[in-house]
Amino acid sequence: MDAEIDFRSDNVGPVAPEIMEALAATNSGAASAYGGDALTAEVKLRYSELFEADVEVFAVPTGTAANAISLSACTPPWGAIYCHVDAHANTSECGATEFFSHGAKLVPVTGEHGRIDAAALEEALRDSGRGQAHRSQPATVTLTQATEWGAVYSHAQLDELAEIARAHSMSIHMDGARFAGALASANCTPAQGSWRRGVDILSFGVTKNGGLLCDAVVVFRPDLAETLKYRLRRTGYGWSKMRFAAVQLLAYVQGDLWLHLARRANLLAERLARGLTTTGAARLIAPVEANEVFVRLSDAAAAALNRAKIRVHPRGDNIVRMVCRSDMADADITRCIAAVTENHGIEKRAN
Ligand SMILES: Cc1ncc(COP(=O)(O)O)c(C=O)c1O
Repeated sequence: MDAEIDFRSDNVGPVAPEIMEALAATNSGAASAYGGDALTAEVKLRYSELFEADVEVFAVPTGTAANAISLSACTPPWGAIYCHVDAHANTSECGATEFFSHGAKLVPVTGEHGRIDAAALEEALRDSGRGQAHRSQPATVTLTQATEWGAVYSHAQLDELAEIARAHSMSIHMDGARFAGALASANCTPAQGSWRRGVDILSFGVTKNGGLLCDAVVVFRPDLAETLKYRLRRTGYGWSKMRFAAVQLLAYVQGDLWLHLARRANLLAERLARGLTTTGAARLIAPVEANEVFVRLSDAAAAALNRAKIRVHPRGDNIVRMVCRSDMADADITRCIAAVTENHGIEKRAN
């Protein structure tokens, strides 16, 4: 009997063994609470080295917390945050950004495959009503890297958006729930993928790529970092046993673990996409540039996956999302492609 294969989300996966081992190794003795411990101090040093800048790092329990707290640090209550129409902060965080910013407005902007289109952003800013008391004032642009459609902004695309944001004196936030996947795909350094592109504050994803209940906010601008510790404490995210978050953030980047995990997930996604599209039963609806595959399947192909106990995330209109994770086996990808291929052969013979 074949076991179930679960492509619904990166969140359905386990914790990377290296992170579990690091947690277990930390689990003895006493350490100062609320971030006063040695591991938390080490995170700042290690991440400053990693990002080639003097950064501040704040551990948070979820990507939603990372986004909402970061965006509230950049944006006054009367501010407007320009985001992609499909941005997670806009569609799936239950108003967390609006709540934590005390009423800032998200302004959705269009663009292909989850990337904000520069011309659409310019147009939205032209219509923003800058200086009018009746209108929320442009304050922040948030970019998701990799995007909600599995695409990765190029450096040129990020630079163009950063130039527009700067011309309007706006801050730049990056939702990096899949930042590791984007870096692995762009084959660049963390600095090149973030502050060198103008990013002021980064939601640094860990959970989706092997962490345990821990993401982080990485802050490149001291004025933003200053308010973060108060904001986090007020939300109840100031963990007392912070060392167990810190040890994860350290283990995650130790020996480039995060990039190894992301490269593996990306590679599996590329293989899956190639295999599925070669069958002719699946059509890609977004480029596969990180670990997510979005395809339109025939009804029969969707049923075949279901029969083969392969779980996918439906997105309506026969579109499904399939997310690859580093813990998946090559055989999982092969089995998925085979299920669709066999079914397509039967479909073709029947027609
Ligand atoms: C792009 C993106 N940002 C943020 C999040 C939020 O993460 P969490 O569910 O941990 O709050 C997600 C989760 O799916 C996501 O896909």
